[in-house]
Amino acid sequence: MTAETAYHGDMGRQFALQATDSVYNAHTDRPAMLRLAGDVSGLHVLDVGCGAGHYAAELLRLGAVRVVGVEGSETLLQAARERLGDRVVLRRHDLEEPLDFLEDQSFDLAVMALVYHHIDARGQLLAELRRVLRPGGKLLVSTTHPTGDWAYFGGSYFAEERVRLPFGDGFALSYVRMTLETFLGELLGAGFALEELTEPRAEPESRPLDPRRYDKTQRQPHFLAVRLRRP
Ligand SMILES: C[S@@+](CC[C@H](N)C(=O)[O-])C[C@H]1O[C@@H](n2cnc3c(N)ncnc32)[C@H](O)[C@@H]1O
Repeated sequence: MTAETAYHGDMGRQFALQATDSVYNAHTDRPAMLRLAGDVSGLHVLDVGCGAGHYAAELLRLGAVRVVGVEGSETLLQAARERLGDRVVLRRHDLEEPLDFLEDQSFDLAVMALVYHHIDARGQLLAELRRVLRPGGKLLVSTTHPTGDWAYFGGSYFAEERVRLPFGDGFALSYVRMTLETFLGELLGAGFALEELTEPRAEPESRPLDPRRYDKTQRQPHFLAVRLRRP
């Protein structure tokens, strides 16, 4: 169980802190994804790459009855345990491997926030999410925006390669930069139907937290988020 791209040790601790109240995670990605989720009351939810449990906490607050979080970093799982206690089932797992500990059609909703681009075995992961979702269930996916990646890394927009983005105090996020065509093509090719796509900007009230990053989200796309339906 390696989960090489998971945020281990100090990198995980830094992410857990920043995800609590950062312009990007707490005030751009999370509100957009939770809006896409709609009414979650009574739902059984799988949180794929649950990090420090920020999504799981919100999903429970909004009425989800069962949340299972899967995550490759023990550091982040510990942070999630501290945040959530025994209100969710948390499991350490490398998302490059099948979700064979989860039953077929046992979830109404799967939330995969800012995780998909880290994974190489994306076709297998999508097939597994399709298997564990009930027919009519929803899949939410957010990722780095292809245009934002192009603006940052340069070169050809069509370059599809693993990149390293500096993160925190001396760390780097390793992920696959891909085009919009590839991202959507993979999701649709796995048999999901696209319901909505959004390019979120930070919530206005978050500007005082970090005016430079806030202003950047208003002129340059940073994330992309979609809601899909499992037929
Ligand atoms: C940007 S964080 C998002 C966390 C959480 N979804 C959130 O939005 O707060 C990416 C997460 O994916 C996890 N991750 C990356 N690669 C993984 C892998 N191969 N297996 C399991 N988890 C992985 C990281 O440890 C981290 O928690």
